[in-house]
Amino acid sequence: MSAPNKSYDPVEVEALKPEEIERMRDEALAAFAAAGDLDALHEAKVAHTGPASPLALANREIGALPPHAKAEAGKRVGQARGAVNKALAARQAELEAERDARVLVEEAVDVTLPYDRVPAGARHPLTTLMERIEDVFVGMGYEVAEGPEVESEWLNFDALNIAVDHPARGEQDTFFVADAEGRSGSGVVLRTHTSPVQVRSMLDREPPLYVICPGRVYRTDELDATHTPVFHQVELLAVDEGLTMADLKGTLDHMVQALFGGEGMKTRLRPNFFPFTEPSAEMDMVCYVCRGESVGNPERPCRTCSSEGWIELGGCGMVNPKVLTACGVDPEKYSGFAFGFGIERMLMFRHNVEDMRDMVEGDVRFTRPFGMEI
Ligand code: DAH
Repeated sequence: MSAPNKSYDPVEVEALKPEEIERMRDEALAAFAAAGDLDALHEAKVAHTGPASPLALANREIGALPPHAKAEAGKRVGQARGAVNKALAARQAELEAERDARVLVEEAVDVTLPYDRVPAGARHPLTTLMERIEDVFVGMGYEVAEGPEVESEWLNFDALNIAVDHPARGEQDTFFVADAEGRSGSGVVLRTHTSPVQVRSMLDREPPLYVICPGRVYRTDELDATHTPVFHQVELLAVDEGLTMADLKGTLDHMVQALFGGEGMKTRLRPNFFPFTEPSAEMDMVCYVCRGESVGNPERPCRTCSSEGWIELGGCGMVNPKVLTACGVDPEKYSGFAFGFGIERMLMFRHNVEDMRDMVEGDVRFTRPFGMEI
């Protein structure tokens, strides 16, 4: 900065001449007006109001003026700087408003666009039904047990009292797994039912035992409307002291009420034979559509149960003492009940599915209408 000088007249100092100050102001105003966006305005701001700007440098010259000249020069520079700052603020506001308006348009979300352009799949109704059945039993304190689908013949048949000459053991029903050399007689099969999980559970744990075993099973059936070579069963096993057929019946009644809902759902047992239960029974449940009211009532025929009032569900019985013994459970102390049924069949009743092939084809148009129930 120059030293004070008595004879110094601001009009004589180049940077403080009125027309110079006006030029600096006008250049600043023109630069702000020309700035097309906030970045350009920032540059213009630094150039015209920053410490190295012409007006800031001119302002510094004021200090060197004699006192009488300072006021006038100060006023002139001050007015010019005031005008520049005002123009800057106005342009800043204008450009910010423009930017905000543009952002609103550019970043607008089109809420009418479809939100699910990747179509959601669906859980298979067999899975959700199986989980629902598990829930009914877990609610009663049962545990869910699983076993392998490739099973030893001993667990699939022998331990369940199914003798070597039993028809279920013939080549007709069972997929036998060949050994590494491709020879038969490996002693390994694809399990034909979930009952071997009963055996595994008894061998694994001590009674009291309450387990439910859902799973996939295999039989050499052709795929048609009512058969599939791969299907699902749920097996139940309870082993405790003092269990009777009455406990089995109460459990079955509870299950059909929980799954089919409402008044009047119950089961009935018809004598039957299974090697692994003694006595054994076939279990039927009341027709969930007519609830038995179509029986002997030609006015109200029922297509679901052919007006018989009952629908066959599966097999059940008291665990054969021979099976308990084979599994290391003392039949003098403990008794048990068991039952097993097919999930595909239950899905057919529960949801009026007419063709089992729909369940295996994997078409989401079949699965989706069942919803995403979890
Ligand atoms: N395992 C039998 C089958 O696949 C079904 C069955 C019948 C299971 C009676 C049981 C039972 O637990 O007690 O045909």
